[in-house]
Amino acid sequence: MTGVAGFIGSTLAERLVFDGFDVRGVDCFTPYYAETEKRANLERLLATARFELVSADLRDAAIEPLLDGIDFVFHQAGQPGVRLSWAEGFGDYASHNVLATQRLLEGSVAAKVLRFVYASSSSVYGNAAAYPTTETTLPKPHSPYGVTKLAGEHLCGLYAENYGLRTTSLRYFTVYGPRQRPDMGIRRLIEAALSGVPFPLYGDGSQIRDFTYVDDVVEANLAAARTDLAAGSVVNVAGGGHTTVNDLVSLVGKVTGLAVPLTTLPEQHGDVARTGGSIDAAHQLLGWSPRVGIAEGVERQVTWQTSRPRFAAQVI
Ligand code: UGA
Repeated sequence: MTGVAGFIGSTLAERLVFDGFDVRGVDCFTPYYAETEKRANLERLLATARFELVSADLRDAAIEPLLDGIDFVFHQAGQPGVRLSWAEGFGDYASHNVLATQRLLEGSVAAKVLRFVYASSSSVYGNAAAYPTTETTLPKPHSPYGVTKLAGEHLCGLYAENYGLRTTSLRYFTVYGPRQRPDMGIRRLIEAALSGVPFPLYGDGSQIRDFTYVDDVVEANLAAARTDLAAGSVVNVAGGGHTTVNDLVSLVGKVTGLAVPLTTLPEQHGDVARTGGSIDAAHQLLGWSPRVGIAEGVERQVTWQTSRPRFAAQVI
């Protein structure tokens, strides 16, 4: 597992350990957000004998020892977020999302891993021509981030074609839930309600997202590992809904019982107007469907954020 200290990686690793698997978790603790938060994500994992943490940067670390004895690779590591991938930021996106992926793929061929599951992104579609968007739609990213995630997917495809490496790319659609990254929309909305510090609303809030609950993403990864899909497969992992940011403002207000203060900022470069993924392929190929809807998922994330120590005093 790479990116094990992150939001999705740590949640997936906990599930694997709980299911009785041994997990070697790799992370290089990039400064994208606070290391203390990532260390907190690892607390439960580090308390189990089934988990081993390796601090390593996939861009230059020796890959062979990382993959020694490994059957399944879940490649969750990457430089995340759409809006910071412009200008000088791009170097980190290119190296963490493309070079690191290529090095891990090379190592996975040599180590003869059974399945390589790659965390791809809805951002490969950009402003898609049709919704719900199917996997056969020609990808056309709208951000440099999306370009790097698509490059990672293409690398998976060509290692599959040339070397027979069994890769599956899962295109995640805006994942949320406990441990969500601090730069993401739902995390910031809940924080605004709890702290009274205004939420920076980009544009008019009419942008639509197909939000996907983190436990559903974990289930999709487990299904991808146990299903013998054709090498190089690509599958959407989407929540199946369509929620505007304005809808979220109302929902977070309702769930917390608090007003959500807003400050309006211009639309951000790289943000698309809408995402919405067809989940037919996931259902047919992986037997997977999302289970947690946005109202229930936001409630669970509110519970997590209100139970974090820094908010305890303010909420009382
Ligand atoms: C998210 C992740 O950040 C990417 O890493 C991931 O690859 C992508 O989903 C994906 O689905 O592929 P995004 O959809 O931008 O990207 O997710 P959020 O940061 O949660 O933003 C959701 C919406 O809230 C966006 O429309 C954004 O414009 C809005 N937003 C977000 C704000 O108005 N203000 C904020 O401070 C943050």
